[in-house]
Amino acid sequence: MSELGKKVQLDWAKIGFKYHNTDYRFRAKWVNGEWDDGELIESSSITVSEGAPALHYAQQCFEGMKAQTAVDGRVLLFRPSLNAERMHRTAERLLMPPVSDSLFINAVEQAVRANYRWIPPFGSGASLYIRPMLIGVGENLGLRPAEEFEFRVFCSPVGPYYSEGGLGSISLAVSDYDRAAPQGTGSYKAGANYAAGLLATKDAVALGADEALYLDSRERRFIDEAGSANILVLMDNDKLVTPASSAILPSITRRSIMSLAEVDLNLRVEERAIDLREEFQNFAEMAACGTAAVLSPVKKVWFDGQWHPVGQSVKTPVMQTLYDKLVGIQSGILPDYSHWVHSVDL
Ligand SMILES: Cc1ncc(COP(=O)(O)O)c(C=O)c1O
Repeated sequence: MSELGKKVQLDWAKIGFKYHNTDYRFRAKWVNGEWDDGELIESSSITVSEGAPALHYAQQCFEGMKAQTAVDGRVLLFRPSLNAERMHRTAERLLMPPVSDSLFINAVEQAVRANYRWIPPFGSGASLYIRPMLIGVGENLGLRPAEEFEFRVFCSPVGPYYSEGGLGSISLAVSDYDRAAPQGTGSYKAGANYAAGLLATKDAVALGADEALYLDSRERRFIDEAGSANILVLMDNDKLVTPASSAILPSITRRSIMSLAEVDLNLRVEERAIDLREEFQNFAEMAACGTAAVLSPVKKVWFDGQWHPVGQSVKTPVMQTLYDKLVGIQSGILPDYSHWVHSVDL
């Protein structure tokens, strides 16, 4: 076990959002019809059969969470039971044995604790990203579910997802590709959704955007979501609106921000279809939100062959207030009335 307190020396402000091979990861195996208790291991490699269904048929899913050092030194997770719940739902959709909530939380806590020296300090702007994953392994060839599975949780310190950092504004480009069909797997955190999105992201970046923005695949009118984040729009009537769609990932960050907007800011909030072209001129502020994106205001959107600036002003006071509230709760600065943070015993 690593020594508590002796932190890794990294330039936290510059680490970016990339993989660092930390000391330990948690691994549990499903063999003979049940999950074993799992254990911490040191090797970051996974050896699987070339016939593993995760490799051929993308029978795998994952989650993304963060641990933060609080102002008082505690290590905080944000609503981890919702990630456990979402992975359970995704596993069932992909015919994989769900991991129980207690195994999930216990695995995350063990991985975070064992990698304590990699958790960025309070105020560094960085955090410890946590990646739970569930993969179908074992030997297989035909299109059938795996009979053996591995559940793994690894961690990596990360900086801001977008290069602008903090609350920097980003730009999105509407993709020519569809992300997910209305009755497809868009609302599940399945790796297959992301493989299909790599080209869309590449095209968006070539246009100078940070990410792709997807419209609904039936009519290509309504906003679905960005490549790795949900969308929030403050309309010019001061209502905070977020897309209702069966094809988007139900973001834990979005759910939390919508609740903060309604309860703490007394804003009217609504989940409904948003017609990009019809309603764009009514957008006062727009943002992308997610564990990695946190809450990133969107300054312009590319569609129909040109850039369209969002709102009249470069300032985004409502998104700024929501960001401060969210990050304040996540880092233990603001009171956590809703019991969203989960302190990891060190
Ligand atoms: C496609 C997609 N949408 C939305 C989100 C945001 O979800 P959450 O707030 O639960 O991280 C993510 C993950 O961060 C994502 O990959």
